[in-house]
Amino acid sequence: MQDFKAILAAIHAELNSEVDRGIVASYIPELATVDSNKFGIHVATMEGPSYCIGDWNQPFSIQSVSKVLTLSIAMGLVGESLWKRVDVEPSGNPFNHLSLLELESGIPRNPLINSGAIVVADVLVSELKNPKEDLLAYVRDLANDQSIRFNEEVAQSEIRTGFKNFAAANLLKSFGNLNNDVDEVLDFYFHQCSLEMNCAQLSKTFYFLANRGKCSRGKTYLNESQIKRINALMLSCGFYDEAGEFGFKVGLPGKSGVGGGIVALLPNHFVISTWSPGLNIKGNSKLGMEALERFTTKSKLSIF
Ligand code: DON
Repeated sequence: MQDFKAILAAIHAELNSEVDRGIVASYIPELATVDSNKFGIHVATMEGPSYCIGDWNQPFSIQSVSKVLTLSIAMGLVGESLWKRVDVEPSGNPFNHLSLLELESGIPRNPLINSGAIVVADVLVSELKNPKEDLLAYVRDLANDQSIRFNEEVAQSEIRTGFKNFAAANLLKSFGNLNNDVDEVLDFYFHQCSLEMNCAQLSKTFYFLANRGKCSRGKTYLNESQIKRINALMLSCGFYDEAGEFGFKVGLPGKSGVGGGIVALLPNHFVISTWSPGLNIKGNSKLGMEALERFTTKSKLSIF
């Protein structure tokens, strides 16, 4: 068993004094107010113990990390038919890129870029009775934590300013790949992105993806084949045009969000969540990426 406590202490000590912490996302106005000095890490192990350091218990906006959760629900609801509407290839482009979507006739490259996640949101708006309430219930159940909530200010902030997402949704609609009303789908999408969690809640929520589909209470959410697919998508597409770099340096499936959170996991071993709001040029948490590289290097634990 690795000494995760010592490893986290070393990483925190090495990185917490970093002056260049990246830039906090400001295209969603409500996110621009977050303190870029925050930095937390939490590790939940399958053996039982958890480890944490820094600002691990402060809630942040999970943003694109939520795309994995809505994908999990959609895979459970509609199974293989989802892949007729969204592909499973890395995009090699930023998360909000549009021209590829037009070139490829409204079939998004994968469900973890914005356009793909909007198609998944459309599926959930069609399939769920009360989409927002049902998503919240699913996430709270996964984490066994009723305190998880949407941040209404963040959601409204993006409803007012998310013009590129409106463009993507309208493009999807023009190609016949959006069944519901654009405003209704984006209202759901912006709310899923506004979900708030701290690092510990994030590790707990993603536990089932490291534990063959079972949450920490032993309840099964998806089968092993579905888990394999989601983890494969996180590895190849979870960091947009930096997915190769993340695989190269960290070697784990994972997902980032512009709120500065990253979650990554080693199947059957652990889930690790990091939060540092400053982003690098590709929109991924700068310190989070560095912390995860150091974690898999020091622990010698990665999928490779
Ligand atoms: O749709 C958006 O642009 C945001 N709500 C989420 C983007 C995001 O988190 C990309 N991640 N690195």
